Formats: sequence, C-alpha cells, structure tokens
Amino acid sequence: MSRALGLLWTLDSGPWTLFQAARMSYFEALKHQPVLWDEAVDALQPKPGGRYADGTFGGGGHTQLLLARSAPDGRVIAFDLDADAIQRGKALMLGDQLVLVHASFATLREAAAAAEMLPLDGVLLDLGFSSFQIDDPARGFSLRLDGPLDMRFDTAAGPSAADLVNELDEQSLADLIWRYGEERQSRRIAAAIVRARQRERIETTGQLASIVERATDGARGRIHPATRTFQALRIAVNDELNALSLALEAAVASLAPGGRLAVISFHSLEDRIVKQFIARESATCVCPPEQPVCTCQTVPRLRPVGKPIKPSDEEIERNPRSRSAIMRVAERLPER
Ligand SMILES: C[S@@+](CC[C@H](N)C(=O)[O-])C[C@H]1O[C@@H](n2cnc3c(N)ncnc32)[C@H](O)[C@@H]1O
Repeated sequence: MSRALGLLWTLDSGPWTLFQAARMSYFEALKHQPVLWDEAVDALQPKPGGRYADGTFGGGGHTQLLLARSAPDGRVIAFDLDADAIQRGKALMLGDQLVLVHASFATLREAAAAAEMLPLDGVLLDLGFSSFQIDDPARGFSLRLDGPLDMRFDTAAGPSAADLVNELDEQSLADLIWRYGEERQSRRIAAAIVRARQRERIETTGQLASIVERATDGARGRIHPATRTFQALRIAVNDELNALSLALEAAVASLAPGGRLAVISFHSLEDRIVKQFIARESATCVCPPEQPVCTCQTVPRLRPVGKPIKPSDEEIERNPRSRSAIMRVAERLPER
C-alpha cells in the first residue's frame, strides 16, 4: 500500500489531488485530524529508504504520510501505549514497512535496535492524547463526557486517575495539581476532593468535574474550571513528563548525523522540557559564565532548526484542538 501511495505522491497534480482527497476523507471518516500534519512530516525531510520513529502512533496520520513520503522502501517504527491504537495500525496492513510497538516511546532506542532500524533518520513525538481517546467517555479523559475516571493510555498498567484522587493524601494531591496543572487553587481543590471522597468514592469524570467546579466557584474564562486538574491527573497517571525526557535522550542517541527530531507539545510543561533539552544539547560551552576562557570542550549533539511552528489560523479553525500546539525541530550533528 505505501508503495502505491508513494507513487501517487511523486506524480503530477491529478493523482496528487486524488491522493489528498482520499487521505482527507479517510481521516474525516475516522473523525481524526493529525495536528501540523504536513509541517511535522516536512520537518523530518523524509527520503526514499529512510528510517523513522513515530513515538505516538495514535490514529496513524503522521506515520502514513511519512511512509508515503519515504516510499518505496522507507520504514517506520511506531509506538503507542494504547492497545486500541496498535490494533488500528495493524488494520492498515502496511506490511513490514511499519513496525508497531505497544510500549512507551521511552523505549525507542532498544525497540529500534531490535527491529534493526538504527540509526534513524527522523523521530516524531506528537504528545498527549488522541481524538479517539478524548472522544471516548469510557477512557475518562474528557471532563465534558461522563465516564469512569481512568485516563490511562495503557489501560492494563498502573493506577488510574480514580485511584489517585481516592488514595493520595491531601498534601500530595495539592502538590500534584499544582505541579502538573499549574493550578493556583490546587489546595482548595485538593481539600474539596478529600471532603467529597469521605462521603463516597469518586469514580467518574462528572463527579470530579463538579467537585472542582464547586470548589473554584465555577467558570473562569473560556476553559472549564476543572481543565487544569484533569491535565494534572493525566500527566501523573501516565508519568508523561518523565517519559518525554527519556524519549528525547533516546531519540538523540538513535539519530544518524543530519537526522531530525520534531516534537509537538500541547502545554507549557511539555514545551519547556523540549525547549530546554534542545538548548542544552545545542550549547557549545557549559562553563560557568564568570570563567573567562572555555575549558569544557562541549560537543553539541543538536542544532535547532528554525523557529517553533504553530498551526495556521486555517488549521485552528478546521481543528480547534490544534490551537495550543507548538512544534520544535532539531537536527542531529555529527560526532566530532
Ligand atoms: C496526539 S496522539 C498522536 C496522533 C498521531 N500523530 C496521528 O497522526 O494520529 C498521541 C498518542 O500518543 C500516545 N502516547 C502518549 N504517551 C505515550 C508514550 N509515553 N509512549 C507511547 N505512546 C504514547 C497516546 O496513547 C496517543 O495515542
């Protein structure tokens, strides 16, 4: 299939337009719109025979475009913690050009080595949850659709959000909501959760959303008052920031010289980690500023590529969920 897509890609505007229409209707049927779709794949500069890692397969939008743009013999190793996403990937039947891994992107280097795909020519991370997950009340990510308070990407592993809100002590809950949600009313919210759970266990997204709403006196601006609390719980349940740091390190260690890293973040905590990582890995000197002469002989491993990229107004209008996205790109430098 990817061979055919690649052929269409290289032909003139007739088949190309057909291909564009086909891919749009495929994803519209799935109600799935990859964020910064072309921009992210362009950033990796795919080439025939290239080897790429998509750390966040989701609905497979970026992976499929990467395969099309690296046809006829490009390969992608794609990861997802969500078993449903891996099943969707298998249904695409893309043969051995796509290796699907049901594991965290933090394991990127070992998995790519096992698949004999090192070194890689590009790594993409499109962080957070997919529309499949947020739109399914049973997954517990949405504060607008009532469902079990779960929030695990991998539903077979680790404590759920309900376990955290019902079992953490008040101080730990407040710290978590402050640290991962940057929520100024974290203490008040944690106290309200602890009071509420003394009456009955908090099992649903609806229960939690209304506890937070009452504790914070309702709406604030355009976002629901429980948005930051939900974000904090999701990050904690999936250990997201730690996994991101591990994946960035694994990506740099796996890239060939000239290979590209592209990361799409959706909130400032993620973006800060990516920005600081790229800055650290691009530094040519880490000596203390008061030292007159450099003695550290630091060899940078990355070069930042361009400015951070945000979705166009047209994309935000078509897909409002893309509005907080920001993509940073860096290139692997040769070892000296
Ligand atoms: C925004 S979606 C990716 C969408 C995808 N780029 C597409 O085009 O369809 C993010 C996906 O990453 C997965 N994910 C989040 N954290 C992960 C991790 N640490 N390891 C592997 N997958 C992860 C989620 O389960 C979700 O399916």
